[in-house]
Amino acid sequence: MIPEAELKAKVKELGERIRNDYRGKELIVVCVLKGAVVFLSDLIREIGPDVDVKLDFLAISSYGVSTKTSGVVQIQKDLGTDIQGKDVLIVEDILDTGLSLAYIKKLLGERGPKSLAICVLLDKPERRKQPVEVEYTGFSIPDKFVIGYGLDYAGMFRQLASVCVAEPIDD
Ligand code: IMP
Ligand code: MG
Repeated sequence: MIPEAELKAKVKELGERIRNDYRGKELIVVCVLKGAVVFLSDLIREIGPDVDVKLDFLAISSYGVSTKTSGVVQIQKDLGTDIQGKDVLIVEDILDTGLSLAYIKKLLGERGPKSLAICVLLDKPERRKQPVEVEYTGFSIPDKFVIGYGLDYAGMFRQLASVCVAEPIDD
């Protein structure tokens, strides 16, 4: 669906926007594990040294290996830093129903950050159940299950360099 070169160009563009918005400031970049790690590692290098980037990680789960989001959200790993009074950017692979990011935004918002923004690589607007305001979006995509560039199917295919559509196998 999205070849490597297009991903690279878009991540560069997002990195530039983030750099311009947070230049000279400290920014706590919160990576939502595990899907966002590939995107995050490219993104922070495009943000570059003009922003004082600090990393932290959050893991949540929505249950099951099904390609349908169950909507059950739980924290598996919490942040290691206090974000009170800090500028915070949540980095996520994909915004689908919105349940995960709505939950994460509320959770982190309650901790009193100075600002809280969201950056997603992919957005499937047709699937939204809960509205979520996102400051930085890479690509809006149709309602297809995608893998690669960090995104998985049952834990597999995260290492693919491009974003690909996972086709169900009929038996
Ligand atoms: P939401 O809570 O429905 O917005 O779901 C977001 C999470 O569901 C993402 O962080 C992914 O882990 C997963 N997800 C949603 N759509 C896809 C997809 O097409 N491929 C892989 N994972 C997906
Ligand atoms: Mg995920």
